[in-house]
Amino acid sequence: MDSKLKMFVGEVNSVLARCRTEDKLFECLQGPFRELISVDDWLSPRFAQPHHTYYQQYLLHADPEERFSIVSFVWGPGQKTPIHNHTVWGMIGVLRGAEIGIRYARPTPGMPMQAIGEERLEPGMIDFVSPTVGDIHAVRNAFDDRVSISVHVYGANIGKVAREVYDAATGVGKLFVSGFSNA
Ligand code: FE2
Repeated sequence: MDSKLKMFVGEVNSVLARCRTEDKLFECLQGPFRELISVDDWLSPRFAQPHHTYYQQYLLHADPEERFSIVSFVWGPGQKTPIHNHTVWGMIGVLRGAEIGIRYARPTPGMPMQAIGEERLEPGMIDFVSPTVGDIHAVRNAFDDRVSISVHVYGANIGKVAREVYDAATGVGKLFVSGFSNA
């Protein structure tokens, strides 16, 4: 594992041991996370490969006790997620390119999903998700002509978490579990 990533994993372990509430956790983790994504010189090229059709999710680290996981998201030009939730705390940080996130209100079945905010993340910028701070969003590459990459940290093994994607027109949720491109 790259030494910067290894150092960050060590920081997360130490933070999890001493910061017990979600508030505190975000507060304690944001410094080390900003540091990790502030310089784009550590992500192995094999975890930075785009796919011509699908955005890629490479598992960079899974905590043996499944308390957290770290994933690189590699966006090809114009690629985007559906509207989805997470059910656990998460941090998103842009390493390369830029990303646009649209937040949504909790769904009302039968009604279209309602956007409540949009934010563009440039390299070095971070965002938070969780059932407490806002858990539903859709994310896309800000660029139609180049690759963007973000790093995501989740408070579980995200490859085992059952969560939902939402139909934009009807607000109807459907369970899914995300897979990894390098599984
Ligand atoms: Fe997400």
